Amino acid sequence: MPELRLEELTASNVEAANRLTLKPGQREFLAPETYTHSEDQLDPAGSWPRVIKDGDDVVGYIMGAFDPDAGDEYLRAAIWRIHVAAEAQGSGVGRFAVEALADEARRRGFDRVTVVWAAGEGSPEAFFEAVGFQVVGETPYGEKLGALSLA
Ligand SMILES: CC(C)(COP(=O)(O)OP(=O)(O)OC[C@H]1O[C@@H](n2cnc3c(N)ncnc32)[C@H](O)[C@@H]1OP(=O)(O)O)[C@@H](O)C(=O)NCCC(=O)NCCS
Repeated sequence: MPELRLEELTASNVEAANRLTLKPGQREFLAPETYTHSEDQLDPAGSWPRVIKDGDDVVGYIMGAFDPDAGDEYLRAAIWRIHVAAEAQGSGVGRFAVEALADEARRRGFDRVTVVWAAGEGSPEAFFEAVGFQVVGETPYGEKLGALSLA
């Protein structure tokens, strides 16, 4: 079992985070089009970037975006990025990252977390459903909006 822990993204781990490689066909799902078109609406103060480490190794990355005043729900308490190194996938790193972000959202007073993903082969859809997200809508770009209840 991996010994997972969360670390803030800093100058000392950002390179390792950038070097994480995915499995073939996954890269296109990394940055949903909905998010690419909304980046200018993100409140930088609500950015929550974290690396996931197994011992000394960076094995994953998650970025939360928190903004209780955002007009659109998908910008309020969101998983903005999540990815796990190809060789570490399937061992619970993604679930650990989502649970950590959910804990942070709870601390900030949110009652649900959202995420946007694209469907298709290589999509993270089955992962998000396995960790408790339910599809609650579709974005103007035809992507799924999922929500995880923190109640
Ligand atoms: C999606 C991703 C983060 C999942 O990370 P992971 O560490 O492999 O996931 P975990 O091992 O924690 O899996 C948690 C659960 O999801 C399930 N799951 C994960 N990937 C799955 C897949 N491709 N198909 C079916 N189930 C999957 C696991 O079986 C596990 O279920 P269980 O706990 O009930 O047994 C990883 O595959 C990834 O980095 N993908 C590429 C980037 C990406 O698409 N990011 C999302 C952008 S919106």
